[in-house]
Amino acid sequence: GGSEVLVIGSFMMDLVFKSSRAPKDGETVIGESFKRYPGGKGANQAVAAQQLGASVTMAGKLGADLYGEEILKVLHQKQINTGKIIIDSNETTGVASINVDAKGNNRITIVPGANHAFTENDLLKIKNMLFKHKVLVLQMELNLNVTFKAVELAHEVGIPVILNPAPAAIIPEKVLSKITYLTPNESEVELLTGLKIFDIEDAYQAGEILINKGVKNVIITLGSKGAVIVNEELKEFVPGFKVKAIDTVAAGDTFNGALAMKISKEIELEKCVQFANASAALSVTKDGAIPSIPTESEVQNFLLKYQN
Ligand code: RIB
Ligand code: NA
Repeated sequence: GGSEVLVIGSFMMDLVFKSSRAPKDGETVIGESFKRYPGGKGANQAVAAQQLGASVTMAGKLGADLYGEEILKVLHQKQINTGKIIIDSNETTGVASINVDAKGNNRITIVPGANHAFTENDLLKIKNMLFKHKVLVLQMELNLNVTFKAVELAHEVGIPVILNPAPAAIIPEKVLSKITYLTPNESEVELLTGLKIFDIEDAYQAGEILINKGVKNVIITLGSKGAVIVNEELKEFVPGFKVKAIDTVAAGDTFNGALAMKISKEIELEKCVQFANASAALSVTKDGAIPSIPTESEVQNFLLKYQN
């Protein structure tokens, strides 16, 4: 059989600059450190799902360069199935320029490179293996048409799909109606619904708008506050965990990977979201994208401590 979770998504080499504050227009600031970490929303979510207890296959495209080699090596070490990853000798591996300030806030510019060379044709080549997985996980760092096509294919085959609509972009209604789990944050849900989120009631309302457009489950992440679940049966707030923020890069990805892991095991949704909140909180306490993702036992211990 296939692995439990299939991620079709992006790879980036994250080039992380830390400075007390981000530079303004035309300004140069002197930073404290520079580090390079493997990342990209797709890879981060794949590593999170795998490290938190699911078996994961990842598909996508890397360039034939050192960054690509390094990322592939990390995925191997994490025991992710990389058999469907394409290496394109005409492309460069995606890169992300990330500025992290003293408060742990970040600003990111990505250059997708090989990620945007992953075509609908590449996707169709893996169509026949879709049914072997419990859940498909998508983000929006590949070409949108490819991501939206993947939603359609999953719907045809009848496997649940988690779409993390990041970075934010409009999603056509015919795609929305085929999404099992949509996981926007506050700014993404604002773009999707036109509603500004100030409190939990706003999040319920935004969720309802998306449910009316055919999304099966909307899970809106509210940073350290937690997350809101909206579907036909319920509206529920699942509180988050307060931690000292060092670096919030990949918090959302850790949330999505954790969610995918739990969903692949057919756990009740509220429990999935609680586990995802805890996983994301732990990722915020460490630097980097992939290096900050916790293991399953770290999350379990954290939850135990928190309950006492
Ligand atoms: O979500 C975090 C990720 O977004 C980073 O790893 C970076 O690669 C950007 O794509
Ligand atoms: Na982090």
